[in-house]
Amino acid sequence: MTDSHEIVAVRGARRWDSRGRPTVEVEIRTPVGVGRAIAPAGASTGTGEAVDLRDGGPGFGGMDVATAVRNVDTVIAKALLGRRVDDQAGIDTALESVDGTSSFASIGGNAAVATSMAAAHAAAAVEGVPLWRHLNPDARQLPLPEIQIFGGGAHAHGRIDLQDLMVVPYGASSFAEAVDWAVEIHRAGGRWLDDRGRLAGVADEGGWWPAFDSNVQALDALVAAIEGAGLVPGDQVGISIDVASTQLVTAEGYSLASEGRVLDRDDWRAELLTWLSKYPIASIEDPFAEDDPAGMQSITTAVGERVQVVGDDFLVTDAKRVRAAADDRSVNSVLIKPNQAGTLTRAKAAFDAAAAEGLGAIVSARSGETEDVTIAHLAVGWGSGGFKVGSVTRSERTAKWNEMMRIEEELGASGRFAGRAGLGPWLR
Ligand code: PGA
Ligand code: ZN
Repeated sequence: MTDSHEIVAVRGARRWDSRGRPTVEVEIRTPVGVGRAIAPAGASTGTGEAVDLRDGGPGFGGMDVATAVRNVDTVIAKALLGRRVDDQAGIDTALESVDGTSSFASIGGNAAVATSMAAAHAAAAVEGVPLWRHLNPDARQLPLPEIQIFGGGAHAHGRIDLQDLMVVPYGASSFAEAVDWAVEIHRAGGRWLDDRGRLAGVADEGGWWPAFDSNVQALDALVAAIEGAGLVPGDQVGISIDVASTQLVTAEGYSLASEGRVLDRDDWRAELLTWLSKYPIASIEDPFAEDDPAGMQSITTAVGERVQVVGDDFLVTDAKRVRAAADDRSVNSVLIKPNQAGTLTRAKAAFDAAAAEGLGAIVSARSGETEDVTIAHLAVGWGSGGFKVGSVTRSERTAKWNEMMRIEEELGASGRFAGRAGLGPWLR
């Protein structure tokens, strides 16, 4: 007789992401439960990430995923059929064995992460509980959201150099209120731009795509937007920036192309420190390039007691890199993106390494997303302090905020909003 947990079908399919690019969906079935998940995709990717398998060729800008989908239907299905769906570690190890590389270059990181997440959903479905509860029945914490107001960098054709200008509404009393505030700030930010004839459109993650003259002007506009929403910058709401600075590196140094300036590491550090002292910035991500640990270390040493310094491209959701960064004190917080790791087991190992080292953690979406809401469940189930999804427009973003609000309602009085503590245990 077939066990209710036994995987009886694994199916891949091509779906579309928020940039109109093909991506991989996986559906896993047991006799009593179905799980489905869709792989996201980054634009400013770190070199150490799991690799998405793309077909190349003339169709869809070379981005098609026919081979990755076929891999799901063939080699991956063969390796998983008959396994228990609640054996996440066994499933993820099987994916590694089938692949045989460290970066999922052979079966595709997109195929791997969608399979891994689909298995988790199927296991939760067999038990008849939401995924977050399957991951941890005692989970109580709602994370502090980082919500994008303005987009830039690789998500807005470099219109400004900073990639993400976000708010962290740490003074809110609940997750839902934090989103309420961000929506008002987003609206005020749009008005600020419109009044000055500087509203150029919408960036990849739903924030305004502005026509700023400089990065500092973007920070000024963000402060104005917070005030325009009737909120107090630095008291109720902090600023969070993702510099994604690997994208800024040229042979001459860190290039602020929108301002026509190139800075060497010392001048770049001085520039960042000026921003951090002049603006209520609570969190800064990838301030130095992925191959500049000395830069990361220098800024964490300077501000790590009062500012969250986050490694994204710098750590690529890899437990070993997280431990090394903790030893070097080059970050005090870690971005966790399941598709950088390729499986939930690897992503959780990076998350656990951060926790064990006393670092903060932020579960994060990618710039290419879909209606998939797995990360909302991971953030709660794993107990993440932070949650980064993009802005408050575009359904692939609001799907995650809305799911988190449902979880908050489900938790009711037993739920706790992380608030300021969501920024993580800062270095001492
Ligand atoms: P990406 O950007 O998904 O395009 O890599 C998101 C981020 O840098 O945090
Ligand atoms: Zn980033």
